[in-house]
Amino acid sequence: MATLELKQIRKTYDDTEVIHGVDLLIESGEFCVFVGPSGCGKSTLLRMIAGLEDITAGDVEIEGEVVSQVPAAQRGLAMVFQSYALYPHMTVRQNLSFGLENLRMSKEEIDSRVAEAARMLQIEELLQRRPGQLSGGQRQRVAIGRTVVREPKVFLFDEPLSNLDAELRVAMRGEIAALHQRLGNTMVYVTHDQVEAMTMADKIAVMRAGIIEQYGSPLDLYNFPANLFVAGFIGSPRMNFISGTIASRTDKTVTLALVGDHRVSLDAKRFGGDVGEEIEMGVRANHLEIAKSDKDADLRFEVNAVEQLGGETYLYGTVGGAVPFTVNVQGQSKIAAGDTVPVKLSAELVHVFSKRSTLSLLQTA
Ligand SMILES: Nc1ncnc2c1ncn2[C@@H]1O[C@H](COP(=O)(O)OP(=O)(O)OP(=O)(O)O)[C@@H](O)[C@H]1O
Ligand SMILES: [Mg+2]
Repeated sequence: MATLELKQIRKTYDDTEVIHGVDLLIESGEFCVFVGPSGCGKSTLLRMIAGLEDITAGDVEIEGEVVSQVPAAQRGLAMVFQSYALYPHMTVRQNLSFGLENLRMSKEEIDSRVAEAARMLQIEELLQRRPGQLSGGQRQRVAIGRTVVREPKVFLFDEPLSNLDAELRVAMRGEIAALHQRLGNTMVYVTHDQVEAMTMADKIAVMRAGIIEQYGSPLDLYNFPANLFVAGFIGSPRMNFISGTIASRTDKTVTLALVGDHRVSLDAKRFGGDVGEEIEMGVRANHLEIAKSDKDADLRFEVNAVEQLGGETYLYGTVGGAVPFTVNVQGQSKIAAGDTVPVKLSAELVHVFSKRSTLSLLQTA
């Protein structure tokens, strides 16, 4: 087990800085996921940890030791790539043992590690086959097996499941999580899929344009997004946003004036921000409900489309004329496209962000 620390890491390609001074401490045994949109620097950061990419400035430390200048093979890390990069002319057994033979390990030790990895990943029956004779999921397991046999201190994964179909991806997610449980190693996992991040991670680093926007547990990020970007990125369906201003404030309540002549009163203790400040209110689809009457309602919601899933219903439409909104109701709904319905929000679950800074105005005591 090993801690992994990044200290003011920067990366420049041809005069363009793509990683802007990242600090991060991953505790020993943690499963950390880097998530963010395409091009934000996830792979670059992972490859710098692995030693596959020069570090322009800053340091990588493993177990408190600076390894920035240590060659990849000696860092005690092993990486699984998106393309499995198996040797097509070798059997599964040879693919698993090849890297160990290069380390001049004894045959007994190699055989025992390969047998153990094959058992753990349930590929014992496939050891004599070649990669071309395997399914996508089986190939991915062999690729993971190749890192397992090396018994690395830290496992690195770069979008290992993105070539698999949806069903297999969910199954493999579970297998990697189970592998982490069994081995207890520190693991760093890159994905652009926030659902994958939410379901697998102990800690998530949400990245955008070469910086970490927020680092925390999945539920921390979901419940307390620090800024508009994280609020819009984490959680599915995407959080609804409606703009407005802080209209008034007393000791008890803060009142927001929102697009479409809507007014919403919230607990003043929960939010900072001055009267007159421009804000974005954020509320998740499952923190809204259809109100009994206009009197109880916070928003008028014009429904454009209805998705009946049986157990729950998604209503898609707009508020205030043109602001896109999604409402999730439990069970089956009689509401139809074209209806305008009163909607009530769970005031204690609402988010407010400063438009200028994009930061959350939530006061976390
Ligand atoms: N070898 C390179 N030379 C120049 N620019 C590069 C190089 N590799 C990556 N970049 C740039 O660095 C930035 C980060 O790229 P990176 O591959 O780390 O993104 P990513 O978050 O992994 O994206 P994706 O989700 O698409 O894999 C991008 O703007 C990319 O164009
Ligand atoms: Mg990438």
